[in-house]
Amino acid sequence: MAKQVLVTAALPYANGSIHLGHLLEAIQTDVYVRARRLMGDDCVFMWADDTHGTPIELRARREGITPEQLIARAWDEHRRDYGDFDIGYDIFHTTHSDETREHAEAIFAAMKAKGDIVSRDVEQLYCPKDAMFLPDRFVKGSCPKCKSPDQYGDSCEVCGSTYAPVELGNPHCSICGTVPELRRSEHLFVPLSRHEAVLRAWLAAPEQGGRTELQPAVRNYVMEWVEGGLRDWDISRDPPYFGFAIPGHPGKFFYVWFDAPVGYIGATQKWCRDVGRDFASYWRDPDRARTELVHVIGKDIVYFHCLFWPAMLQAAGYTTPSRVHVHGWLTVGGEKMSKTRGTFVLARTYLDHLPPDFLRYYFAAKLGATQEDIDLNLDDFVLRCNADLVKKAANLASRCCKFVASRLGGTLGALPDDAQTLVATARARLAEVGGHYLAFESAKALRLAMQIAEDANLYVTEQAPWKLGPDQAERARAVCSVGVWATAVIAAILKPVLPRWAAAVERMLRLPAPLDFANGGAALPSGHVIGDYETLAEPIDPAKVAAIVEASKESTPVSTSAPAPTPAAPPEPLQPETTIDDFAKVDLRVAKVLTAAKVEGADKLLCLQLDLGPLGQRTVFSGIAKSYAPEALVGKHVVVYANLKPRKMRFGTSEGMILAAGASDDAVTVLELDGRSVPGTRIS
Ligand code: MSP
Ligand code: ZN
Repeated sequence: MAKQVLVTAALPYANGSIHLGHLLEAIQTDVYVRARRLMGDDCVFMWADDTHGTPIELRARREGITPEQLIARAWDEHRRDYGDFDIGYDIFHTTHSDETREHAEAIFAAMKAKGDIVSRDVEQLYCPKDAMFLPDRFVKGSCPKCKSPDQYGDSCEVCGSTYAPVELGNPHCSICGTVPELRRSEHLFVPLSRHEAVLRAWLAAPEQGGRTELQPAVRNYVMEWVEGGLRDWDISRDPPYFGFAIPGHPGKFFYVWFDAPVGYIGATQKWCRDVGRDFASYWRDPDRARTELVHVIGKDIVYFHCLFWPAMLQAAGYTTPSRVHVHGWLTVGGEKMSKTRGTFVLARTYLDHLPPDFLRYYFAAKLGATQEDIDLNLDDFVLRCNADLVKKAANLASRCCKFVASRLGGTLGALPDDAQTLVATARARLAEVGGHYLAFESAKALRLAMQIAEDANLYVTEQAPWKLGPDQAERARAVCSVGVWATAVIAAILKPVLPRWAAAVERMLRLPAPLDFANGGAALPSGHVIGDYETLAEPIDPAKVAAIVEASKESTPVSTSAPAPTPAAPPEPLQPETTIDDFAKVDLRVAKVLTAAKVEGADKLLCLQLDLGPLGQRTVFSGIAKSYAPEALVGKHVVVYANLKPRKMRFGTSEGMILAAGASDDAVTVLELDGRSVPGTRIS
């Protein structure tokens, strides 16, 4: 019996928007999953948002919302973005879920029971102002080696050296600038060295009897870490921390990387409950007898997936990965994506200008099995999509289908003898495709599709059916039938990458069954009637790409593609909590503006004379001169904070404050009341 296949892509952080780097991975994973399904595998794609950690905690604070609200917003946004790129996941769950908590706790409990959790005190930098221990990336100072200023607490971007945050010169908190102090706290550790034998077995190459598929470069890289000695892994964090509390350890939270991959399990658990599948067969299969488990990740997170993760899974009796596929980094125009150059493109910005298929094609046409970086060259993107999809594949379909439909009654004929070599070659190419997709070699698969398109176009152009007279209609039909047949073969190969294209071809050719790699090369019977041509692709207007770059210059994404989270900008701290009783102390009254005048020497201020009815008159200075001409205010009924302590200013004493708000000095709106409101009345 074929194994069931469970595929995952890395779980995107919930503190930022989806960008083209995320899409590289999502598209690679989706293509792999779709290809395996086309080959008849029972293949599911389990996915989620990664929602825990300090950056999320701090960002929510900065925005004045709860972390739950922040991650709910990201969840909607992420699902929409990936959905609009046709990423065919079976579930997009969240790590902030009961299912993930349940399994994180189970794994922790199993490890603890085996003696895999030890505790000891750690000294770390602590910001007394923010009342928190500072993660490495939240401390800045000068590099201990090269002395470059303004470096993060873990590594220097100038000289590349890595170090501990306590080694920084002149350290300061990157949130508030305060000089941090050293404090002690108890932490929980997984002594990874206890898992060395298990890890070596999991990492073993096939020739050593290993069963895990890893790219050779990845295997070597991870083995170097093992050879270098496995260090203890700190899995606990102190509050404030948005995450799961560690059972039995009050005041401690699981480090985000402890529960993040458990999100793969949590998503599967949720999906199994929703659709009635057997969870245990997926994740409680330590011998991998029933399940093949495949993770797709970027090269920055290999450490977590190839050391910690298999150790955790093995220790707790879960299924370990059959394969970890690592892709390279996306660069744009040969460089790291950059906000100033407009190359930090969000998924949504791209979709605002172009359909998803072009990006899906371009990425898939460049992706192979190595960790080499993938460059999105914007000129090449336009040329490549237009040349391959429009001029080769769509052009072949359009020429042949239109001719058959308009001149030959839509009826196909038998494939002629002089096309037999072409047909045999195309069938041989189609037979290779599945293997390429299985090996994450989508570029090779797509190359074969384009070769078929080139051959078929050449054949049709040479035979020029449109030049044949009415007496040679059957020859014209036979020639066009080759183009129509090749269109189906090409669509079968493109299908994992361009599902919409394949669906259009299936409709247009009225195919008896959905295309796959096995049936894609079958000839349609002579006499088969096809439908009208549907446009498969239209050329990309380079202006659209320019517009994407322009729009990306404005957008200010909050997470970057950098391997580690960027520290949050200084948050505007919330004022201390108040109660409704505090608010009741503010005495708000109706006031009528009697006079208003500019103030000499203060171009923001207006001097208002207010009538408070039985409470008499007041003089109030208000910073609204950039938004209101004085005469515009006279006669208006406004709200005044009447028991505010009078304040002496350079120009006189202000005896209160009127309520007004605005995003900037020149966009202030005064809260205006109905003209019937009686001056002096208290507003509640
Ligand atoms: N939340 C973690 C993963 C947890 S998996 C249990 C994380 N999130 S991320 O949002 O920063 O990145 C998600 C995936 O996108 C990672 O595999 C990462 O390598 C990949 N990429 C992010 N930026 C990228 C590029 N510029 N290029 C290619 N892949 C990139 O890491
Ligand atoms: Zn601070």
